[in-house]
Amino acid sequence: MLYLLDTANLDAIKRAFDLYPLGGVTTNPTIISKEKKNFLDILRDIREVIGKDSMLHVQALGTKADEIVREAEYLCEAVGGNLYIKIPVIPEGIKAVKMLKKKGIKTTATAIFTAEQALMAASAGAEFVAPYVNRIDNIGGNGVGVVSEIVHLFDTFGMDAKVLAASFKNVQQVHEVALNGGHAVTVSADIMDGLLYHPLTDWSVNQFIKDWEGAYGEGKLTF
Ligand code: E4P
Repeated sequence: MLYLLDTANLDAIKRAFDLYPLGGVTTNPTIISKEKKNFLDILRDIREVIGKDSMLHVQALGTKADEIVREAEYLCEAVGGNLYIKIPVIPEGIKAVKMLKKKGIKTTATAIFTAEQALMAASAGAEFVAPYVNRIDNIGGNGVGVVSEIVHLFDTFGMDAKVLAASFKNVQQVHEVALNGGHAVTVSADIMDGLLYHPLTDWSVNQFIKDWEGAYGEGKLTF
C-alpha cells in the first residue's frame, strides 16, 4: 500500500515521515490555509522535510485550463521535486490534465465523486485519481463502492492511472479501500497512527517489559 499524509503541518509531517513508510504528502487549499503562513514557504518547507523524491501533491486554484497550466508551471519551478498538480475534475480541469500531460507535468485528478469522473481523468492522462471516500459517504453514497468501481474500470480498460483514495474519517474506511484494491491512500496523522494502534499490542509490549525486568532488572538487550 502506498501511504501519503494529508496535511501541510510541518510537525506532523516530520513525525510521520520519521516513523512510517510514507510515499509523500497531499495538500489542498483548505489544508494549506490552516497553517496561516505564506503558501510557498509552507510548500518549500514540506519539500525540504520529505526530500525531492517523495511525492508532493499540490492543488491548482484556477478554473480555466490556461490558468491551471500556468499555476502548474509556476509550482514546478518554485517548489520542484516529485510534484503532482491536483486538478479538480471540471471540464477545464480535464483540458488542463491533457495539456500538462503533453508538457510532462504530472497530475492528480481530484474532487472525484463518481467512477466516470475518474475514468475520464485517467483517459486524459492523470497519474492519480482521488475519490473523496468520506465526502461520498456523507451524502448517502458508498465511498468504498466508488473506489471499487474505479479499480474495476481501470483494470478493464488497462488504465495506467492509480487510485489515490482521499477524504477519510476512520480506519475502517481505509481498510475497506485496501481490501477493494485502492492503490494508495492519503490520510491524516491521526488515522495513520490509528492504522497501527491496537490496545492489545500496547498491553503485550508492556507485559514483555515487565516480565523481562522481573527476571533481569531494568535494561535492554544492549550494553
Ligand atoms: C486530498 O488531499 C483531499 O483534498 C482531502 O483528503 C479531502 O479531505 P476532507 O474531505 O477531509 O476535507
